[in-house]
Amino acid sequence: MLVLSWLTHILAVTAAPVGSTTADVFPPPNTEVDTGLFPHRTVVGFPHVTRTGAQPGAFFTAPADQFPRAQQPFGPVVLPRPKGWKPPKKPKKGKFDPITSWGYLTPRHSLDPCTWGACDASPIVPEQCTLSAVHILMRHGARYPTAGDAAEHFATRLLNASKTGDLKATGDLAFLNEWTYKLGSDILVPFGRLQCMELGVRSRLAYGQLLNDFTEKGTLPVAFGQGFFGRDSDKQFGMTIAIENKGTNATVYPGGGTCPNSERDVVASKLGMAEFVNRTMAGTAERLQAHLKGYTITPADVQIMLSLCAYETLSLGYSAFCPLFTEEDFRNMAYAYDIMFYYGNGFGGQTTAAQGKGWVQEFLARLTHTPIEVYDSSTNSTLDGNPETFPLNQSIYADASHDSYIMSTMVALNLTALNTFGRLPTDIGGSLEERVYYSSKIVPFNTNFVAQVMRCDGREGEQIRFILNDAVIPLQDSYTGCEEDKDGLCGLKHVVAALQTRVAEIDYFKACNGPIFNITETSQLRDSNGMPYV
Ligand SMILES: *[C@@H]1O[C@H](CO)[C@@H](O)[C@H](O)[C@H]1NC(C)=O
Ligand SMILES: *[C@@H]1O[C@H](CO)[C@@H](O)[C@H](O)[C@H]1NC(C)=O
Ligand SMILES: *[C@@H]1O[C@H](CO)[C@@H](O)[C@H](O)[C@H]1NC(C)=O
Ligand SMILES: *[C@@H]1O[C@H](CO)[C@@H](O)[C@H](O)[C@H]1NC(C)=O
Ligand SMILES: *[C@@H]1O[C@H](CO)[C@@H](O)[C@H](O)[C@H]1NC(C)=O
Ligand SMILES: *[C@@H]1O[C@H](CO)[C@@H](O)[C@H](O)[C@H]1NC(C)=O
Ligand SMILES: *[C@@H]1O[C@H](CO)[C@@H](O)[C@H](O)[C@H]1NC(C)=O
Repeated sequence: MLVLSWLTHILAVTAAPVGSTTADVFPPPNTEVDTGLFPHRTVVGFPHVTRTGAQPGAFFTAPADQFPRAQQPFGPVVLPRPKGWKPPKKPKKGKFDPITSWGYLTPRHSLDPCTWGACDASPIVPEQCTLSAVHILMRHGARYPTAGDAAEHFATRLLNASKTGDLKATGDLAFLNEWTYKLGSDILVPFGRLQCMELGVRSRLAYGQLLNDFTEKGTLPVAFGQGFFGRDSDKQFGMTIAIENKGTNATVYPGGGTCPNSERDVVASKLGMAEFVNRTMAGTAERLQAHLKGYTITPADVQIMLSLCAYETLSLGYSAFCPLFTEEDFRNMAYAYDIMFYYGNGFGGQTTAAQGKGWVQEFLARLTHTPIEVYDSSTNSTLDGNPETFPLNQSIYADASHDSYIMSTMVALNLTALNTFGRLPTDIGGSLEERVYYSSKIVPFNTNFVAQVMRCDGREGEQIRFILNDAVIPLQDSYTGCEEDKDGLCGLKHVVAALQTRVAEIDYFKACNGPIFNITETSQLRDSNGMPYV
């Protein structure tokens, strides 16, 4: 009798009667956020200096035909159009969309499943598998340019030219006669807030059930957290705020923080970008120059004006710069940024694997439920050595960072499927359509990298796979022991072993502080898998 009632109980738990009410509770009763360990940003200090810009007004600045007939799944309220664009009689599929060709200024969007090569995979967990954990790494949403951005200098140069009284724009550029710089700096724009919120909501819908495994406090980022948890979200999770300050160890802030040589990668990448821009944008500079007196438009100015198309569209809702440019111009813009990321933060950098090392160490700690033993990267033992601020038994982890460090993390993870083309040449006339490496796909605004850990019938041990903006990343070329797999899955033990090898081969101190190769010519740039050129 006793046994039977016990059995009934089990049945009731595992298979609720049809039509019965089911509900989950989160956070678990008696959960409290420890404001001592998870202080509010006003308490943490080191506030970043931000500046707001002018109010947007897309509905009274954009031409009427720019309102999309069908609202796009992502993007601002109106859509940028390239030069020569005419409203189609019928909306066409697969048409070029400038917004996807803005490099790292492109907003996150769901990628084609084939993007990284796993054409038959879907981000939905395969039927025979049960998800046990997700590790999320995301970029913040759309923001203003960073302080001191080239766009700001362009505005100042125009201002200087106008002061002499000779500046005169006509034709396509006539709008410049009244143009002012309306952008702020660094802070998220309204659309960027929406992106973070949307990703939070989306992730809750995708993975909310994992919250049932929470028995303790977790750590998740803010706007995402508001989307994920809703009202009073700050009472439902603990968030560690990364301090971005020179000399402070912060996993997601290696570059400016504790890796001085990273600046050398940035300089080299800008050299590569400038060479490409000078070559491919000279014609456009000349075309535009015909409409402008009193200011010399350089190829670099063309890239800046293209970036203003992106920034103004995302910040103000409309930009008069966009219709100045052809499809080819936008493709060149994207490639220029791809060169910048490839050598400054990607597979062609010398300090980039080092910069991504910290996150991979944290990831390994979480995957193996074992504390970090050695602090030899950007990690911080005060935070990561404490199980409260760096818990190891969660089912959901979410970290937020910047484009550059997320790119470096992909390199440190040895995700070679993102680098199948190899070295990006800088001395070509146009962009390379056949490359896989696109900053617009790897680190767009609010990019979303996810590692799913699961168990599957018919497979031994835990399995793992990586998904970047909804496209699954094949692992067979990254990690020994991983085979080609329809769903992009690989045994966790193989991935852990390979990442341990990878972490061991990356010398943070040497790459970040040692004598690295001094790049003075673009021909010296190469695919180094993020390690110092030897
Ligand atoms: C603009 O003019 C001022 C004053 O002549 C000068 O100091 C400044 O360097 C100029 N700025 C640019 C970006 O050319
Ligand atoms: C580690 O992180 C804490 C909290 O963010 C910070 O106060 C401390 O300065 C960091 N330690 C180092 C060595 O940077
Ligand atoms: C690009 O052109 C500018 C002049 O517009 C020049 O100052 C710069 O050195 C050139 N850079 C490269 C890498 O060719
Ligand atoms: C900060 O990073 C350095 C360099 O990797 C490391 O030697 C040091 O132990 C770290 N400090 C803390 C508090 O984690
Ligand atoms: C994680 O949970 C397992 C099983 O409950 C436990 O044995 C282990 O000690 C925990 N590890 C950490 C680091 O909390
Ligand atoms: C990283 O990927 C490369 C190229 O696919 C491979 O040769 C290498 O063994 C990988 N490294 C590790 C540590 O697995
Ligand atoms: C790199 O080379 C350039 C040009 O030869 C030189 O000006 C610069 O000082 C060198 N930088 C370093 C860090 O060696």
